[in-house]
Amino acid sequence: MYLGVDYYPEHWEKERWSVDADFMQKAGINVVRLAEFAWSKLEPEDDVYDFDWLDEVMDILNKRGAKVILCTPTAAPPIWLIEKHPDVLPLLRNGQRKAFGARRHYCITNRDYYYYSERIIKKLAEHYRDNPQVIGWQVDNEFGNPKCYCSSCRKEFQHWLKLRHKTLENLNQSWGNAFWSHDYTSWDQTPLPIVDHHNPAFDLDFRRFFSDVTVNYSNMQIKILKKASPEKFITHNFMGLFPDLNYYHLAEKYDFVSWDNYPQKLENRFHTALAHDVMRGLKKKNFWVMEEQCSYLTREDITATLSPGQMRLWTYQCYAHGAEAVVYFRWRACSFGMEQFCSGILQHDGTNKSISYKEAAQIGSEIHRIGPQFEGSRVVSPVAIIYDYDNIWANYSYQERPMYNYPDEILRFYKAIRKKGINVDIVKPTDELSKYKAVIAPLMYIVTDEAENNIKRYVEEGGIFIAGFRFGIKDIHSNMVKSVLPGKLKKLFGISIYTWDNLRGKKVEVKDDEGNIYQADTFADLITLKEAKPIAKYNSSWYTGHAAATVNTFGKGRAYYVGCGLPQSFYDRLIEKVLSPLILKSIKAPDEVEITTREEDNKRFIFIMNFSDKPSRIFLGEEYTELIKGKRLEGKIKLDPFEVLILERIGK
Ligand code: GLA
Ligand code: ZN
Repeated sequence: MYLGVDYYPEHWEKERWSVDADFMQKAGINVVRLAEFAWSKLEPEDDVYDFDWLDEVMDILNKRGAKVILCTPTAAPPIWLIEKHPDVLPLLRNGQRKAFGARRHYCITNRDYYYYSERIIKKLAEHYRDNPQVIGWQVDNEFGNPKCYCSSCRKEFQHWLKLRHKTLENLNQSWGNAFWSHDYTSWDQTPLPIVDHHNPAFDLDFRRFFSDVTVNYSNMQIKILKKASPEKFITHNFMGLFPDLNYYHLAEKYDFVSWDNYPQKLENRFHTALAHDVMRGLKKKNFWVMEEQCSYLTREDITATLSPGQMRLWTYQCYAHGAEAVVYFRWRACSFGMEQFCSGILQHDGTNKSISYKEAAQIGSEIHRIGPQFEGSRVVSPVAIIYDYDNIWANYSYQERPMYNYPDEILRFYKAIRKKGINVDIVKPTDELSKYKAVIAPLMYIVTDEAENNIKRYVEEGGIFIAGFRFGIKDIHSNMVKSVLPGKLKKLFGISIYTWDNLRGKKVEVKDDEGNIYQADTFADLITLKEAKPIAKYNSSWYTGHAAATVNTFGKGRAYYVGCGLPQSFYDRLIEKVLSPLILKSIKAPDEVEITTREEDNKRFIFIMNFSDKPSRIFLGEEYTELIKGKRLEGKIKLDPFEVLILERIGK
């Protein structure tokens, strides 16, 4: 199994390279990511190349048995390129050119930039194609920023609009251009969204466009690399819950997804777990973590130094959710440049006395011993949550953005499910759903015809579907539907919604069918019952008489609708009731302990992780073999702060 580091040898004297490589080898590091932002060192002048230094450092690593992932250096174009083609610099939304001096300073539709990118990638690919030490490629670094608003992007956008809408009548109709006199009479009049208060349909199309042109640029790189070295893998470092690209589309042509995981705080553990699951869901496949946090970071502020054990805990959380390899960012803290206060496995002093080095060495010795046992096993989930980029983007429209946000609405359900030790898959609205016991769709504004049929079929055949508020309110152009809510699927839910309210701090009480009282938050759909039964009702002023959450039998299945935001205890109870057959009965653990399983053939690996800096206790109702310590465990078990157990069980 691979355990790696992100290494920037160009930041250090040559004499240091072998010391670094020795330290890496001792810690069990067997893969190193190189050359990520090194364009000015690889091509110091236009069409003049220098790969000698890279060959040299790779040789040093090779002697210690380390494999290499090479990056295309396109996230940081050098100054000679910018001087020759100043238009490569992106034009920001405020009309200012992004100046040279940071990174990601390129317009993603710029043809000159395509030319220079293709050229350096071809050179790298030719030079390393037959080198077996190079096992794979990382394309660029963290696609997504910034969006460019230059004239080349505007032309590309107009072209994109023409392909999508075919006629100006369609465009005017779909965007609702009758509003505020926005009708266009020629394609070249269509603008870029640089003013505030522009139209949500226009906004959604621009987001789709930006995502598509990024995917095009990424696919250009993949094509060159695949052609040169078909047997080497190609990946990109995605950013978890980053919302600005359609990651399903971006992931399509990569061999697997990898991603950059910076959890920062223990409290972010559900957020991090969800991000892992989103990453696994992009290709329905195990993934890599290409940058894993090893301690403090440069953010708006300098984040906290990790306590001993925290980096190891987060590393095992990666494996638990389907990581096949973890690579730490970065090998050594840099003494210059923008990220001086970003920790490495080694600190600035370069000694092997850092907390992270000791911990990496511990992980190294464990993972090379036990990793092969669960390598290749899969996270199998009985529950899925719909995660969809058109829906994320439709939620961004100007008026509604401050009200609620997509990941937070997902997390209400996600936390409740994860706390029960149940795995969750992340799916698209049109994915095959029949293998899931339950499917959950928070904030699903847009329900396409395909999604409508898919969900209907799923419930008819026995599935349990749970929708959050504001379901089906918009069409594919991000315009409000003109039918009674929840739109196309109101028969499925057996309800109608004629009135809703944005709660913004209002006190609205909700009572569930067991008499528990909650305070609603965020948003309230005031549900009128048709065939459905209420599971919670509003209990305050003019909301009284309306249901707040409902269930309806439809075909062989059931459809739930949760019409408002509620405290976590509501979701915990709902999930406990609805998913009770799926709850792992043989292990009892408190909320701070995460339980996630991977399986293969008839083997199950149960990862138990104490996300607390205090000891915790669990109860194992059966005997298990624990892989890390190689012991048999049963009954009451005390977990140390941040402790991890991997229990193996034969049979399901
Ligand atoms: C990102 C980048 C890295 C580095 C780290 C620092 O994820 O990919 O190059 O800037 O953050 O936290
Ligand atoms: Zn541009």
